[in-house]
Amino acid sequence: MISFARGAPAPECLAVELIADCSRAAVQADPAVLGYGAGGGYAPLRELLAARHGVEPSRIVITSGGLQGISFWFEELLAQRPGRVLVEAPTYDRPLKQLARLGAEVVALAMDEEGLDSDALERELAAGDVSFLYTIPTFQNPSGRTLSVERRRSLVELATAYHLPVLEDDPYGLVRYEGAPPPSLHELEGGELVTYASSFSKTIAPGLRVGWFVLPATLAGRIEERAVSTYISPPFLTEATVYELMRRDAFEPNLERIRGLLRARRDAMIGALERELGGRATWSAPAGGYFLWVDLPADAADLLVRAEAAGVSFVKGADFFPASAGANGERSARLAFSYASPSEIDEGVSLLASLL
Ligand SMILES: Cc1ncc(COP(=O)(O)O)c(C=O)c1O
Repeated sequence: MISFARGAPAPECLAVELIADCSRAAVQADPAVLGYGAGGGYAPLRELLAARHGVEPSRIVITSGGLQGISFWFEELLAQRPGRVLVEAPTYDRPLKQLARLGAEVVALAMDEEGLDSDALERELAAGDVSFLYTIPTFQNPSGRTLSVERRRSLVELATAYHLPVLEDDPYGLVRYEGAPPPSLHELEGGELVTYASSFSKTIAPGLRVGWFVLPATLAGRIEERAVSTYISPPFLTEATVYELMRRDAFEPNLERIRGLLRARRDAMIGALERELGGRATWSAPAGGYFLWVDLPADAADLLVRAEAAGVSFVKGADFFPASAGANGERSARLAFSYASPSEIDEGVSLLASLL
């Protein structure tokens, strides 16, 4: 099976020797990583991340993968400020599942090529009863789109005017293949309302399960309490491994290597789409991240059944819309270019085109 479904890095992206070496060095340097400890994460890594974001270490909470922290954050916000939850649509499906499980009323906000539509956001804020906004402004999962700088500014203005808590989920921002990064919502707003979340899943390895949150001071302790009551303390060995890798200045060179491997895959997918489906389908062209969003000339669910039988998989667009959005994304697909090799990508796109 050629997988365009897996939002996972290609095996070559994982620096096995480097990670093994950092892990050994980390446990030998600080055997305390084998014990219980602070629920908010390994102190040296917390301090390093705090310095990067220009905040106090107490405002950094390192969670067991970004997704665990998202779950804590949703639970805390819905407990503190019950109300409707705003998301852009399409959006990452796992948080949608968490919100459904929490019984939240989810409101889907429209997007276009520039990302989340500010007018749609303003209309919902004016209607009232909003708990928070969950957004992925950069190289969004699933669309690959990036919120423009102008829209970032209007989002922050609206958040300030309506006192709207925002979760900015940014695991892909550093996985950039070209161009300069836009300012984060967190930087533009100052971190009073916007929580910034990211992860080392895409920049080192997902199996480490190390994600981090930069929280408003009022929220940090509450999220840490949720972590303690859920798993006592997070896995320190992998957090200390990340710390060691950064202490050695190995993070940037490894990231540059990963960028090269993934840029070649992104280029292979766009090249194959142009060759095979030019004029018949349209797709996003992201400058980073893992995904392309393709609008198809056919029903995606039907195509998926036939594609899997032929040996290629993807995720159908409809899976990324909340139930409240009704029928949506039925002729769209998320194609991940992160996992398959460039030659598999070429072959997989040709297969999809022949089925279409
Ligand atoms: C948008 C987004 N947020 C969060 C995550 C969770 O990442 P992790 O739990 O591996 O840190 C992912 C993973 O694919 C993602 O795409």
